[in-house]
Amino acid sequence: MRLDHSTWKEVETYLEKSDGIILPAGSIEQHGPIGLIGTDAFCAESIANGTGEQCNALVAPTLAYAPAPFNMGFPGTVSLSAETFRALAEEVLSGLLQHGFGHIYVLNAHGANLEPLNDVAGKIAGAKIQIRSWWDFEPVNMIRSELYGDWEGMHATPSEVAITQVTHRVVEHEPLAPPTKLTSDFIKAHSGDRHGPPEEHRRDFPDGRVGSHSSLAKPKDGERLLAAAIASVSADYNKFLNE
Ligand code: NI
Repeated sequence: MRLDHSTWKEVETYLEKSDGIILPAGSIEQHGPIGLIGTDAFCAESIANGTGEQCNALVAPTLAYAPAPFNMGFPGTVSLSAETFRALAEEVLSGLLQHGFGHIYVLNAHGANLEPLNDVAGKIAGAKIQIRSWWDFEPVNMIRSELYGDWEGMHATPSEVAITQVTHRVVEHEPLAPPTKLTSDFIKAHSGDRHGPPEEHRRDFPDGRVGSHSSLAKPKDGERLLAAAIASVSADYNKFLNE
């Protein structure tokens, strides 16, 4: 059930039975030569929508715009400053809380959102806020590593591309050569999207992929990943509501 597809009377009735809501958070940024600009927003939203159906939970409109300054060297990326994103998230969460949503489950799909979202969650009193990324769950990661191993990489991952192939579209393309393989030191140093300035990022990763072999993605993988993510997030959401 979508908050924005509901009437206020339906929301009022819902709040008599549940104070839980799911808020997807993504980004609007390049995802390599075959990944959609909205990849993160679409992954968060589709997993949230599936969870909403399984758990009879409301799903709020996606926080789609996000900080992604390192990707501003690529056309189509639109980056918010961390301060603006923080303020946006804080006002959205406060608005939900004001109406009685006391359990807010943020389903994230963009590494750079985590720090500001955690800051905001720490500031809001009166609501329980759970922040999870869809790759936090073991059953999902087992599929990612079984399908792609190290070629999952960090950005424009075959798993996120596979999910959007199911939910949105498959981009026709010539076969892509594998990207430069990342070292484990690089992965550790850049987790949470701690990347350099846009010129440097584009110079180091000229086609936008960061260690991810996006073209391994297949729609049938996306179906598996989506189902596993929805099952894991649904179980986690129910647990959160009952805490
Ligand atoms: Ni992404």
